[in-house]
Amino acid sequence: MRLDRFLSNLPRLNRQDARLRLAAGHVQVDGVTVTDGRFEVRQFNRVELQGEVLQIGKPARYFMLHKPVGYVSATEHPAHPTVLDLLDEPDKHELHLGGRLDLNTTGLLLITNDGQWSRRITLPKVKLPKVYYVETEQPITSEYAEVFARGLYFQYEDLTTLPAELQILDTRAARLTLFEGRYHQVKRMFGHFQNKVVRLHRESMGPLRLDQSLAPGAYRALLGAELALL
Ligand code: URA
Repeated sequence: MRLDRFLSNLPRLNRQDARLRLAAGHVQVDGVTVTDGRFEVRQFNRVELQGEVLQIGKPARYFMLHKPVGYVSATEHPAHPTVLDLLDEPDKHELHLGGRLDLNTTGLLLITNDGQWSRRITLPKVKLPKVYYVETEQPITSEYAEVFARGLYFQYEDLTTLPAELQILDTRAARLTLFEGRYHQVKRMFGHFQNKVVRLHRESMGPLRLDQSLAPGAYRALLGAELALL
């Protein structure tokens, strides 16, 4: 929310008061005086009016998890353990997922308490590339690469998938880069050729690669440099 709006939402300030208090340098965000009402206040900012705390910013938290098979990408589930069960962190109810993986898919999963950040990275228009390592039951032919690059029609959603890049690694193994995230997308794309995906692993999301030192089920906080990349 804009800072001027945030201030004028307070019962004791109207829009004019908010403008004046900003111009007078009475407003601090994270200890720094801000005079521009267009400043975007986030959940994680600490906002003060002449030293009086109006909002206590919570620290933003960002994690990468190596999702193992058998864990649901959800915060609660009646039948399976969830990926949040793998985290030893306080206030886990504040965390949510930046994207999902199927129960039997492994690999990079991002977890945060920053809703703006996760919305941004999952927005369709951002087209963040997601790279998957895929193993299949039947051989993969060069025709797959042509079809995936053209896009496949998904009847249920009535859409054509964005061009995707397929690199064939072996008779039954490939690396697939998607620029969107439709429901069961990889499995449905190979399903077009009646070829069952037997292993699916997400290696990266945009510039973020799964840390090779993380065993399945392990996680770590994202580094400042990694956050700056996204
Ligand atoms: N596509 C799938 O089919 N499953 C996943 O988990 C991710 C992408």
